[in-house]
Amino acid sequence: MSARPEARFIPFARPSIGTEEEQAVLAVLRSGWLTTGEVAAAFEQEFAQAVGSRHALAVNSATAGLHLSLESLGVERETVVITTPYTFAATAEVIRYLGADPLFVDIDAATLNIDPAAVERALDSCRAAGRRVTAILPVHVAGLPCDMARIGGLARAHGVPVVEDAAHAFPVRVGDRFAGTLGDAGVYSFYATKTITTGEGGMVATDRDDVASRIRIMRLHGIDRDIWNRYTSPQASWRYDVVAPGFKYNLTDIAAALGRVQLARADELLARRRHIAGRYLELLAGLDGVELPHSAVEHAWHLFILRIRDGALSIDRDRFIEELRAGGIGASVHFIPLHLMSYYRERYGLRPQDFPVSLDCSRRCLSLPLYPSMSDDEVQRVAAAVIGTCRRFASS
Ligand SMILES: Cc1ncc(COP(=O)(O)O)c(C=O)c1O
Repeated sequence: MSARPEARFIPFARPSIGTEEEQAVLAVLRSGWLTTGEVAAAFEQEFAQAVGSRHALAVNSATAGLHLSLESLGVERETVVITTPYTFAATAEVIRYLGADPLFVDIDAATLNIDPAAVERALDSCRAAGRRVTAILPVHVAGLPCDMARIGGLARAHGVPVVEDAAHAFPVRVGDRFAGTLGDAGVYSFYATKTITTGEGGMVATDRDDVASRIRIMRLHGIDRDIWNRYTSPQASWRYDVVAPGFKYNLTDIAAALGRVQLARADELLARRRHIAGRYLELLAGLDGVELPHSAVEHAWHLFILRIRDGALSIDRDRFIEELRAGGIGASVHFIPLHLMSYYRERYGLRPQDFPVSLDCSRRCLSLPLYPSMSDDEVQRVAAAVIGTCRRFASS
């Protein structure tokens, strides 16, 4: 066993919360205003400035942000949204919330991101079959940006909007822009394990005024204007109109206070993630048992996804994860593709082999711990455990 017996368990994820975050939350708790208010508005302004988008809309999860974005772009019953099966449940469930159907297309084996050639085939076959496509929903898996130039070109050619699932992808540059600002709307997650966190939370970035104003209304009950200060401001009126059956998706000031501090630390947190990913790439280079993640372009390094090399080991991925756990290391799997989940499988009659690349990657992938508060010693221990497991179970 590679781990020293006295060594502490290294969890798969751990948030980086310091005294500044504690003080910011405490200040809100003492302020007399807990829910959406001035702190959330400041967080939105600062986030829009950070990613260079015209609008940023704070919401209580990326799931909510994806739902609102699709709704604002006119996704509706009996239409189609093209997306990847190689993602978390949230990406596709929001399509179903609106009564539309996800049309899964396979991924690129090198990047794990949606394959633009497969998107093109899906657009063409929908056109031929008279099925209306109302959005394309790519996911920047692990924080590695999709080929947005090609996806954007296809979307324009077919007159279809693009919503980026950028849940893993803050902050990562694509040329002089940020992933999440390259489509009609982009949605970031601030879930506890993400690159910056508010516990639970998310942000929609968009340059489109119509999308922003629809989301602003729909995230708070379909009310026609900002009414968050209706109980305390001397000018605010208690009178308002409800113009649509909206949702309850607003972000609290408590969460936004955390988010503002994390946003200010984003470069520092990214630098540490990059350093750790770089160490893994160095330490694991040339190892026979595993394939390393694609790292040729800028990356937010939310996840570090290895793949067991076919035929190289006498154990499978599940057993590999058990070996790491026995050595004091938590690992995870991203993803079990959605076409294997019973709801999608049964509703759309999908078979495992319908998406061969997703199927193959999902059987062989595991994610190593990667977060800014990992010490250099912990990174070394994880790499040593991976190397030790590969050596112990090398085939032949
Ligand atoms: C690719 C992807 N999209 C969306 C989400 C949903 O994020 P949230 O938990 O903020 O709703 C997740 C969450 O892990 C995710 O991995």
